[in-house]
Amino acid sequence: MRIKQWIGALAALAILPMTATAADTLDGKALYQANCAQCHGATGEVSKFGKSLKPFPARNHRAIAKLVSSDEMRRIITYGIRGTAMTPKKYKLDALEIEEVIAYIQTFDYSPNLANGKKRFEAVCSTCHGGDGRATTGVGAKNLVYTKLNLTEIVHTMRYGRPGTLMTSKRHQLTNIDIADVASYVNSLKYMANPAQGKKMYASNCASCHATPHDIKLIGNAASSRSVSDLSDRLLDLRIRHGRHVDRAGKKVENLSVDDIQDIMAYMRANTN
Ligand code: HEC
Ligand code: HEC
Ligand code: HEC
Repeated sequence: MRIKQWIGALAALAILPMTATAADTLDGKALYQANCAQCHGATGEVSKFGKSLKPFPARNHRAIAKLVSSDEMRRIITYGIRGTAMTPKKYKLDALEIEEVIAYIQTFDYSPNLANGKKRFEAVCSTCHGGDGRATTGVGAKNLVYTKLNLTEIVHTMRYGRPGTLMTSKRHQLTNIDIADVASYVNSLKYMANPAQGKKMYASNCASCHATPHDIKLIGNAASSRSVSDLSDRLLDLRIRHGRHVDRAGKKVENLSVDDIQDIMAYMRANTN
Protein backbone atom coordinates (compact mmCIF):
# COMPACT_ATOMS: atom_id res chain seq x y z
CA MET A 1 0.00 0.00 0.00
CA ARG A 2 1.22 3.51 -0.71
CA ILE A 3 1.65 5.96 2.15
CA LYS A 4 -1.40 7.99 1.14
CA GLN A 5 -3.62 4.93 1.16
CA TRP A 6 -2.30 4.02 4.60
CA ILE A 7 -3.21 7.40 5.92
CA GLY A 8 -6.63 7.13 4.37
CA ALA A 9 -7.21 3.72 5.95
CA LEU A 10 -6.05 4.96 9.35
CA ALA A 11 -8.30 7.99 9.14
CA ALA A 12 -11.27 5.77 8.33
CA LEU A 13 -10.48 3.61 11.34
CA ALA A 14 -10.20 6.65 13.57
CA ILE A 15 -13.57 7.95 12.43
CA LEU A 16 -15.33 4.62 12.75
CA PRO A 17 -16.09 4.65 16.50
CA MET A 18 -17.47 8.16 16.30
CA THR A 19 -19.98 7.33 13.61
CA ALA A 20 -20.90 3.85 14.77
CA THR A 21 -24.19 3.69 16.60
CA ALA A 22 -24.22 2.11 19.99
CA ALA A 23 -25.76 -1.12 18.76
CA ASP A 24 -22.96 -1.73 16.26
CA THR A 25 -20.20 -2.19 18.75
CA LEU A 26 -19.34 -3.79 22.05
CA ASP A 27 -16.57 -1.33 22.71
CA GLY A 28 -17.29 0.16 26.16
CA LYS A 29 -15.31 3.27 25.44
CA ALA A 30 -17.16 3.98 22.21
CA LEU A 31 -20.51 3.30 23.89
CA TYR A 32 -19.57 5.63 26.70
CA GLN A 33 -18.45 8.39 24.36
CA ALA A 34 -21.63 8.06 22.31
CA ASN A 35 -24.13 7.83 25.18
CA CYS A 36 -22.68 9.31 28.34
CA ALA A 37 -19.85 11.73 27.59
CA GLN A 38 -22.15 14.58 26.60
CA CYS A 39 -23.14 14.93 30.29
CA HIS A 40 -20.54 12.98 32.26
CA GLY A 41 -17.59 14.24 30.19
CA ALA A 42 -15.24 12.37 27.88
CA THR A 43 -12.85 11.59 30.76
CA GLY A 44 -15.53 11.11 33.43
CA GLU A 45 -15.26 14.68 34.66
CA VAL A 46 -18.63 16.36 34.19
CA SER A 47 -18.98 18.39 30.98
CA LYS A 48 -20.06 22.01 30.91
CA PHE A 49 -23.47 20.91 29.70
CA GLY A 50 -23.63 18.26 32.44
CA LYS A 51 -22.93 20.91 35.06
CA SER A 52 -25.81 23.05 33.84
CA LEU A 53 -28.46 20.33 34.22
CA LYS A 54 -31.41 20.81 36.58
CA PRO A 55 -32.50 19.86 39.19
CA PHE A 56 -29.16 18.12 39.70
CA PRO A 57 -26.00 18.33 37.63
CA ALA A 58 -24.41 15.19 36.18
CA ARG A 59 -21.88 13.52 38.46
CA ASN A 60 -18.18 12.89 38.19
CA HIS A 61 -17.50 9.24 37.34
CA ARG A 62 -13.75 9.42 37.71
CA ALA A 63 -13.78 10.00 41.47
CA ILE A 64 -16.12 7.13 42.30
CA ALA A 65 -15.37 4.69 39.47
CA LYS A 66 -13.72 2.23 41.83
CA LEU A 67 -15.83 3.04 44.91
CA VAL A 68 -19.34 2.25 43.71
CA SER A 69 -20.24 -1.38 43.08
CA SER A 70 -21.05 -2.72 39.62
CA ASP A 71 -24.50 -3.68 40.93
CA GLU A 72 -25.27 -0.12 41.91
CA MET A 73 -23.98 1.27 38.61
CA ARG A 74 -26.01 -1.30 36.69
CA ARG A 75 -29.17 -0.35 38.56
CA ILE A 76 -28.68 3.39 38.01
CA ILE A 77 -27.75 3.03 34.35
CA THR A 78 -30.55 0.60 33.59
CA TYR A 79 -33.36 2.38 35.40
CA GLY A 80 -32.04 5.96 35.60
CA ILE A 81 -32.74 8.35 38.46
CA ARG A 82 -36.29 9.64 38.49
CA GLY A 83 -36.84 13.34 38.12
CA THR A 84 -33.32 13.99 36.78
CA ALA A 85 -31.63 14.13 33.38
CA MET A 86 -30.32 10.62 34.10
CA THR A 87 -32.97 8.77 32.12
CA PRO A 88 -33.14 4.96 31.97
CA LYS A 89 -30.65 3.62 29.43
CA LYS A 90 -32.23 0.20 29.02
CA TYR A 91 -34.04 1.33 25.88
CA LYS A 92 -30.75 2.42 24.28
CA LEU A 93 -28.29 -0.19 25.52
CA ASP A 94 -28.77 -3.89 26.00
CA ALA A 95 -27.54 -5.70 29.09
CA LEU A 96 -24.20 -6.64 27.56
CA GLU A 97 -23.54 -3.11 26.38
CA ILE A 98 -24.30 -1.78 29.86
CA GLU A 99 -21.70 -4.19 31.29
CA GLU A 100 -19.15 -2.91 28.78
CA VAL A 101 -19.87 0.71 29.73
CA ILE A 102 -19.48 -0.12 33.43
CA ALA A 103 -16.19 -1.92 32.74
CA TYR A 104 -14.98 1.14 30.86
CA ILE A 105 -16.00 3.55 33.65
CA GLN A 106 -14.10 1.33 36.09
CA THR A 107 -10.88 1.99 34.21
CA PHE A 108 -11.04 5.64 35.33
CA ASP A 109 -8.46 6.48 37.98
CA TYR A 110 -8.57 8.91 40.84
CA SER A 111 -6.15 9.78 43.65
CA PRO A 112 -8.02 11.10 46.66
CA ASN A 113 -6.98 14.42 48.18
CA LEU A 114 -6.88 13.80 51.94
CA ALA A 115 -6.39 17.48 52.77
CA ASN A 116 -9.63 18.33 50.99
CA GLY A 117 -11.26 15.32 52.68
CA LYS A 118 -10.28 16.64 56.10
CA LYS A 119 -11.54 20.12 55.29
CA ARG A 120 -14.89 18.86 54.04
CA PHE A 121 -15.19 16.41 56.94
CA GLU A 122 -14.74 19.24 59.41
CA ALA A 123 -17.33 21.34 57.59
CA VAL A 124 -19.99 18.67 57.02
CA CYS A 125 -19.50 15.74 59.39
CA SER A 126 -17.83 16.98 62.56
CA THR A 127 -21.00 18.44 64.11
CA CYS A 128 -22.15 14.86 64.72
CA HIS A 129 -18.99 12.76 64.45
CA GLY A 130 -16.62 15.18 66.20
CA GLY A 131 -13.50 16.80 64.77
CA ASP A 132 -11.53 13.59 65.33
CA GLY A 133 -14.32 11.26 64.13
CA ARG A 134 -14.66 9.69 67.58
CA ALA A 135 -17.86 11.29 68.88
CA THR A 136 -20.71 8.94 69.74
CA THR A 137 -22.74 11.30 71.85
CA GLY A 138 -26.19 12.82 71.61
CA VAL A 139 -27.47 12.08 68.16
CA GLY A 140 -26.40 8.43 68.08
CA ALA A 141 -23.53 8.98 65.68
CA LYS A 142 -21.01 6.16 65.48
CA ASN A 143 -17.35 6.41 66.31
CA LEU A 144 -15.85 6.37 62.82
CA VAL A 145 -12.37 5.56 64.07
CA TYR A 146 -13.58 2.11 65.11
CA THR A 147 -15.85 1.50 62.15
CA LYS A 148 -15.74 -1.95 60.58
CA LEU A 149 -16.77 -0.58 57.21
CA ASN A 150 -14.35 -0.68 54.31
CA LEU A 151 -13.83 2.22 51.94
CA THR A 152 -16.63 1.30 49.54
CA GLU A 153 -19.03 0.72 52.43
CA ILE A 154 -18.16 4.16 53.82
CA VAL A 155 -18.90 5.64 50.40
CA HIS A 156 -22.19 3.73 50.27
CA THR A 157 -23.19 5.01 53.73
CA MET A 158 -22.38 8.57 52.68
CA ARG A 159 -24.34 8.26 49.44
CA TYR A 160 -27.47 6.70 50.89
CA GLY A 161 -27.35 7.49 54.60
CA ARG A 162 -29.03 5.27 57.18
CA PRO A 163 -32.81 5.57 56.92
CA GLY A 164 -34.43 6.38 60.24
CA THR A 165 -31.29 7.99 61.73
CA LEU A 166 -29.71 11.41 61.53
CA MET A 167 -27.20 9.99 59.07
CA THR A 168 -28.84 11.35 55.94
CA SER A 169 -27.71 10.91 52.35
CA LYS A 170 -24.89 13.30 51.46
CA ARG A 171 -25.19 12.72 47.74
CA HIS A 172 -26.60 16.11 46.95
CA GLN A 173 -24.69 17.94 49.64
CA LEU A 174 -21.29 16.81 48.36
CA THR A 175 -19.83 16.32 44.91
CA ASN A 176 -18.43 12.92 44.04
CA ILE A 177 -14.92 14.32 44.40
CA ASP A 178 -15.73 15.45 47.94
CA ILE A 179 -17.37 12.10 48.72
CA ALA A 180 -14.28 10.22 47.53
CA ASP A 181 -11.93 12.56 49.43
CA VAL A 182 -13.95 12.51 52.68
CA ALA A 183 -14.41 8.72 52.55
CA SER A 184 -10.68 8.22 52.04
CA TYR A 185 -9.99 10.60 54.91
CA VAL A 186 -12.42 8.72 57.20
CA ASN A 187 -10.78 5.46 56.12
CA SER A 188 -7.39 6.90 57.05
CA LEU A 189 -8.62 7.75 60.57
CA LYS A 190 -9.44 4.11 61.33
CA TYR A 191 -7.78 2.70 64.39
CA MET A 192 -5.91 -0.43 63.42
CA ALA A 193 -6.27 -2.63 66.48
CA ASN A 194 -3.10 -4.51 67.34
CA PRO A 195 -3.77 -7.99 68.77
CA ALA A 196 -0.11 -8.57 69.73
CA GLN A 197 -0.18 -5.44 71.85
CA GLY A 198 -3.59 -6.56 73.17
CA LYS A 199 -2.13 -9.88 74.25
CA LYS A 200 0.45 -8.14 76.43
CA MET A 201 -2.15 -5.86 77.97
CA TYR A 202 -4.45 -8.79 78.60
CA ALA A 203 -1.67 -10.58 80.45
CA SER A 204 -0.99 -7.63 82.74
CA ASN A 205 -4.53 -6.32 83.25
CA CYS A 206 -6.99 -9.18 82.90
CA ALA A 207 -5.25 -12.53 83.34
CA SER A 208 -5.09 -12.25 87.14
CA CYS A 209 -8.87 -12.80 87.19
CA HIS A 210 -9.58 -14.42 83.77
CA ALA A 211 -6.61 -16.63 82.91
CA THR A 212 -7.66 -16.69 79.24
CA PRO A 213 -10.49 -15.01 77.29
CA HIS A 214 -12.25 -18.42 77.33
CA ASP A 215 -12.62 -18.13 81.10
CA ILE A 216 -14.69 -14.94 80.95
CA LYS A 217 -18.32 -15.37 81.93
CA LEU A 218 -20.88 -12.76 81.06
CA ILE A 219 -22.81 -11.15 83.91
CA GLY A 220 -26.59 -11.22 84.27
CA ASN A 221 -29.26 -12.65 81.96
CA ALA A 222 -26.87 -12.69 79.04
CA ALA A 223 -24.68 -15.19 80.85
CA SER A 224 -26.68 -18.31 80.06
CA SER A 225 -27.32 -17.67 76.39
CA ARG A 226 -24.38 -15.65 75.10
CA SER A 227 -20.62 -15.60 75.19
CA VAL A 228 -18.02 -12.96 74.45
CA SER A 229 -17.85 -13.94 70.78
CA ASP A 230 -21.58 -13.21 70.35
CA LEU A 231 -21.14 -9.57 71.35
CA SER A 232 -20.38 -6.74 68.94
CA ASP A 233 -17.25 -4.71 69.71
CA ARG A 234 -19.45 -1.92 71.00
CA LEU A 235 -21.29 -4.15 73.47
CA LEU A 236 -18.15 -5.92 74.56
CA ASP A 237 -16.43 -2.59 75.14
CA LEU A 238 -19.44 -1.44 77.22
CA ARG A 239 -19.35 -4.61 79.30
CA ILE A 240 -15.64 -4.20 80.01
CA ARG A 241 -15.57 -0.48 80.72
CA HIS A 242 -19.02 0.24 82.15
CA GLY A 243 -21.59 -1.36 84.42
CA ARG A 244 -20.79 -3.84 87.12
CA HIS A 245 -17.46 -4.93 85.72
CA VAL A 246 -15.83 -1.67 86.69
CA ASP A 247 -16.51 -2.44 90.36
CA ARG A 248 -15.11 -5.96 90.05
CA ALA A 249 -12.05 -5.29 87.95
CA GLY A 250 -11.25 -1.89 89.43
CA LYS A 251 -8.20 0.16 88.50
CA LYS A 252 -6.86 -2.34 85.97
CA VAL A 253 -9.74 -1.54 83.68
CA GLU A 254 -10.22 2.10 84.63
CA ASN A 255 -6.66 2.94 83.65
CA LEU A 256 -6.96 1.57 80.12
CA SER A 257 -7.66 3.93 77.22
CA VAL A 258 -10.40 3.19 74.69
CA ASP A 259 -7.72 2.34 72.13
CA ASP A 260 -6.13 -0.12 74.60
CA ILE A 261 -9.51 -1.85 74.86
CA GLN A 262 -9.65 -2.11 71.06
CA ASP A 263 -6.30 -3.92 71.11
CA ILE A 264 -7.41 -6.20 73.95
CA MET A 265 -10.65 -7.01 72.14
CA ALA A 266 -8.74 -7.84 68.96
CA TYR A 267 -6.68 -10.30 71.01
CA MET A 268 -9.79 -11.71 72.70
CA ARG A 269 -11.52 -12.16 69.33
CA ALA A 270 -8.57 -14.10 68.01
CA ASN A 271 -8.86 -16.40 71.03
CA THR A 272 -12.58 -16.84 71.50
CA ASN A 273 -13.94 -17.27 67.98
C1 HEC B 1 -28.47 14.02 29.52
C2 HEC B 1 -27.40 13.90 30.48
C3 HEC B 1 -26.95 12.52 30.91
C4 HEC B 1 -26.55 11.46 30.11
C5 HEC B 1 -26.51 11.41 28.60
C6 HEC B 1 -26.15 10.41 30.99
N1 HEC B 1 -26.30 10.81 32.29
FE1 HEC B 1 -25.80 9.71 33.95
N2 HEC B 1 -26.44 11.23 35.13
C7 HEC B 1 -26.95 12.43 34.70
C8 HEC B 1 -27.32 13.23 35.85
C9 HEC B 1 -27.90 14.64 35.81
C10 HEC B 1 -27.02 12.46 36.98
C11 HEC B 1 -27.21 12.85 38.47
C12 HEC B 1 -28.62 12.64 38.94
C13 HEC B 1 -28.73 12.84 40.44
O1 HEC B 1 -27.98 13.64 41.01
O2 HEC B 1 -29.55 12.17 41.06
C14 HEC B 1 -26.47 11.20 36.50
C15 HEC B 1 -26.06 10.17 37.31
C16 HEC B 1 -25.45 9.01 36.88
C17 HEC B 1 -24.93 7.99 37.73
C18 HEC B 1 -24.90 8.04 39.23
C19 HEC B 1 -23.67 8.78 39.63
C20 HEC B 1 -23.56 9.02 41.08
O3 HEC B 1 -22.48 9.42 41.51
O4 HEC B 1 -24.53 8.83 41.83
C21 HEC B 1 -24.39 7.02 36.92
C22 HEC B 1 -23.69 5.75 37.37
C23 HEC B 1 -24.61 7.45 35.58
N3 HEC B 1 -25.26 8.65 35.58
C24 HEC B 1 -24.18 6.74 34.47
C25 HEC B 1 -24.43 7.13 33.18
C26 HEC B 1 -24.02 6.36 32.03
C27 HEC B 1 -23.22 5.07 32.09
C28 HEC B 1 -24.46 7.02 30.94
C29 HEC B 1 -24.35 6.59 29.52
C30 HEC B 1 -24.78 5.26 29.19
C31 HEC B 1 -25.12 8.22 31.41
N4 HEC B 1 -25.07 8.25 32.76
C32 HEC B 1 -25.67 9.18 30.58
C33 HEC B 1 -27.07 12.85 33.39
C34 HEC B 1 -26.78 12.09 32.28
C1 HEC C 1 -26.68 15.10 61.71
C2 HEC C 1 -25.67 14.19 62.22
C3 HEC C 1 -24.71 13.52 61.26
C4 HEC C 1 -23.92 14.11 60.31
C5 HEC C 1 -23.82 15.58 59.94
C6 HEC C 1 -23.14 13.03 59.71
N1 HEC C 1 -23.45 11.85 60.30
FE1 HEC C 1 -22.63 10.02 59.88
N2 HEC C 1 -23.81 9.15 61.23
C7 HEC C 1 -24.74 9.80 62.02
C8 HEC C 1 -25.48 8.83 62.82
C9 HEC C 1 -26.58 9.12 63.80
C10 HEC C 1 -24.94 7.56 62.46
C11 HEC C 1 -25.35 6.19 63.01
C12 HEC C 1 -26.37 5.61 62.08
C13 HEC C 1 -26.80 4.24 62.53
O1 HEC C 1 -27.28 4.11 63.65
O2 HEC C 1 -26.59 3.29 61.75
C14 HEC C 1 -23.90 7.81 61.47
C15 HEC C 1 -23.17 6.81 60.87
C16 HEC C 1 -22.16 7.02 59.95
C17 HEC C 1 -21.37 5.99 59.35
C18 HEC C 1 -21.49 4.50 59.60
C19 HEC C 1 -20.49 4.05 60.63
C20 HEC C 1 -20.60 2.59 60.96
O3 HEC C 1 -19.59 2.02 61.42
O4 HEC C 1 -21.67 1.99 60.79
C21 HEC C 1 -20.48 6.60 58.51
C22 HEC C 1 -19.41 5.94 57.66
C23 HEC C 1 -20.74 8.02 58.59
N3 HEC C 1 -21.77 8.24 59.47
C24 HEC C 1 -20.05 8.97 57.89
C25 HEC C 1 -20.37 10.31 57.87
C26 HEC C 1 -19.69 11.28 57.07
C27 HEC C 1 -18.47 11.00 56.22
C28 HEC C 1 -20.31 12.47 57.28
C29 HEC C 1 -20.04 13.78 56.61
C30 HEC C 1 -20.05 13.79 55.17
C31 HEC C 1 -21.38 12.24 58.22
N4 HEC C 1 -21.39 10.93 58.56
C32 HEC C 1 -22.23 13.22 58.70
C33 HEC C 1 -24.97 11.15 62.08
C34 HEC C 1 -24.40 12.09 61.25
C1 HEC D 1 -9.91 -8.09 89.70
C2 HEC D 1 -10.52 -9.10 88.87
C3 HEC D 1 -10.82 -8.75 87.41
C4 HEC D 1 -10.01 -8.17 86.50
C5 HEC D 1 -8.61 -7.61 86.68
C6 HEC D 1 -10.74 -8.19 85.24
N1 HEC D 1 -11.96 -8.74 85.40
FE1 HEC D 1 -13.33 -9.11 83.99
N2 HEC D 1 -14.61 -9.84 85.35
C7 HEC D 1 -14.32 -10.04 86.68
C8 HEC D 1 -15.45 -10.68 87.31
C9 HEC D 1 -15.53 -11.09 88.79
C10 HEC D 1 -16.44 -10.84 86.35
C11 HEC D 1 -17.83 -11.47 86.52
C12 HEC D 1 -17.97 -12.76 85.75
C13 HEC D 1 -16.96 -13.84 86.16
O1 HEC D 1 -16.92 -14.19 87.30
O2 HEC D 1 -16.19 -14.27 85.26
C14 HEC D 1 -15.88 -10.30 85.13
C15 HEC D 1 -16.55 -10.24 83.91
C16 HEC D 1 -15.98 -9.83 82.73
C17 HEC D 1 -16.71 -9.71 81.50
C18 HEC D 1 -18.18 -9.90 81.31
C19 HEC D 1 -18.85 -8.59 81.72
C20 HEC D 1 -20.35 -8.55 81.52
O3 HEC D 1 -20.93 -7.46 81.75
O4 HEC D 1 -20.93 -9.54 81.11
C21 HEC D 1 -15.80 -9.31 80.54
C22 HEC D 1 -16.10 -9.08 79.08
C23 HEC D 1 -14.54 -9.17 81.21
N3 HEC D 1 -14.68 -9.47 82.53
C24 HEC D 1 -13.37 -8.79 80.57
C25 HEC D 1 -12.25 -8.37 81.24
C26 HEC D 1 -11.10 -7.79 80.59
C27 HEC D 1 -10.93 -7.62 79.07
C28 HEC D 1 -10.22 -7.47 81.56
C29 HEC D 1 -8.89 -6.81 81.41
C30 HEC D 1 -8.89 -5.52 80.73
C31 HEC D 1 -10.82 -7.86 82.83
N4 HEC D 1 -12.04 -8.40 82.58
C32 HEC D 1 -10.22 -7.68 84.05
C33 HEC D 1 -13.13 -9.72 87.31
C34 HEC D 1 -12.06 -9.11 86.72
